[in-house]
Amino acid sequence: MKIRAAVHRDFTIAEIDDRLYSAFIEHMGRAIYSGIYEPGHPTANEQGFRKDVLELVRGLNIPAIRYPGGNFVSAYNWEDGIGPREQRPVRLDLAWRSKETNHVGINEFAGWAKDAGIDMMLAINLGSRGIDAARNFVEYCNHPSGSYWSDLRRSHGVEQPYGVNMWCLGNEMDGPWQIGAKQAKEYGRLADETAKAVKAFGRNMETIVCGSSNDAMPTYPEWERQVLEECYDNVDYISLHKYFGNNSHDTLNFFGKIEETGRYIQAIGGAIDYVKAKKRSKHNVYICFDEWNVWYHRREEDKKNWTTWDWPEAPALLEEDYNLEDALFVGGLLNEFIRRSDRVKIACIAQLVNVIAPIRAERGGKAWATTIYYPYQFASLYGRGTALNVAVDAPTYDCAVEDDVSYIDASAVLAKDGKSMTLFILNRHLTEAADLNLQLTGFSAATLIEHFVMGGQGQDIRLANTSENPNRIKPRNGEGVGVEDGSVVRGALPPLSYHVLRLSLA
Ligand code: AHR
Repeated sequence: MKIRAAVHRDFTIAEIDDRLYSAFIEHMGRAIYSGIYEPGHPTANEQGFRKDVLELVRGLNIPAIRYPGGNFVSAYNWEDGIGPREQRPVRLDLAWRSKETNHVGINEFAGWAKDAGIDMMLAINLGSRGIDAARNFVEYCNHPSGSYWSDLRRSHGVEQPYGVNMWCLGNEMDGPWQIGAKQAKEYGRLADETAKAVKAFGRNMETIVCGSSNDAMPTYPEWERQVLEECYDNVDYISLHKYFGNNSHDTLNFFGKIEETGRYIQAIGGAIDYVKAKKRSKHNVYICFDEWNVWYHRREEDKKNWTTWDWPEAPALLEEDYNLEDALFVGGLLNEFIRRSDRVKIACIAQLVNVIAPIRAERGGKAWATTIYYPYQFASLYGRGTALNVAVDAPTYDCAVEDDVSYIDASAVLAKDGKSMTLFILNRHLTEAADLNLQLTGFSAATLIEHFVMGGQGQDIRLANTSENPNRIKPRNGEGVGVEDGSVVRGALPPLSYHVLRLSLA
């Protein structure tokens, strides 16, 4: 299949917010306990955090992490996780029907995040609790000293405030499964008042209001309109969540969900614009896509695990063995975020360790990168700068979720120093190679620095990285693609392959 494409240096989409490559971690399953934290593990540091997992986390260069939930946060008392460990209560986590020991709380997590070089984005419980608990939490985290909660933090050995400026106003508040779920107007009012309290702590405070739990919710997108009408001027982002599956093993339809996500983003953009116009507001609200990932391999099996009344401690939940197809999908989805970076400023892969995660860790054992680790890593490392428009002329297909889906899914990012550019390209065709001819305009002579590839060797796309075989699927150096005359990227991209082409422009 012949592909004509073009990138022009001046045809930009937006400056990409680095936080597009953020992550999410919840007190759920083995994400925290025996995921990032396991005292007694051979690699544990003095604080009990696993250094093998930390190394893998560092490799992703994650800018920000959303914590502590998720559904978990909607019945969580943040105060349970502070002070001497031996005095912390064991609680029942109603979201995942597990036992929460509270051995890790805000201070331990903040220490880990600092070690990992990641900023925190904290979620407030607006399910079972409200403004009072929220403002105390912000005061504990952010106020320097001389007040009840800030002095309590200092008495817990944390002299300097954390200066957290991203605050999520609850989680999936439209979901009937959520403890303390609410009606749109009711939630919008509470979010508005809570945002006001959060913003009282400083000019740089940013708030994230809950959008629908996903685009299949019966109240979507009316929820967004009603919620935003209540709180528009006090919130900075609206959150989107979407998980993806391929139970029917229909690869092209699965890949079509990338376009479906674009439509979701566009619709929420429309709701934002509508409310902004209605309110005659100058304020901008952007999108925070703070939960996204593939989640289906173990979904049904797992449901049984969190619908019993055994209240296990850190049970194995949602431990997906991601395959090559998932990695290709994630590469394409990240392209969509780059293409929509004018709207989407923050996005969080959900989650980070063990629970639907790019990183897996065995209790007492090894840690490894799942297949999706790699496209996420490439985007995080090379997808920072300015998103450029990629005009693509390629054959298309129709599938259940979308029509006219291009077989070629591409994005381009000009690095912040303007000296290099990265093309991220997914060939979704099941059988045909893409004969690429991509014209570069407005750049000085380009040369190929590096080319990484995943898939495309007739490899079975259902092969996964597992405990027994953790390195089966990895990127390799690509071949057969070059830059002619400093301005035309040419070469063959095999079927079902994902490419990262790094070009020097210096
Ligand atoms: O990430 C797993 C769960 O998915 C989160 O707790 C919740 O917000 C979403 O429904």
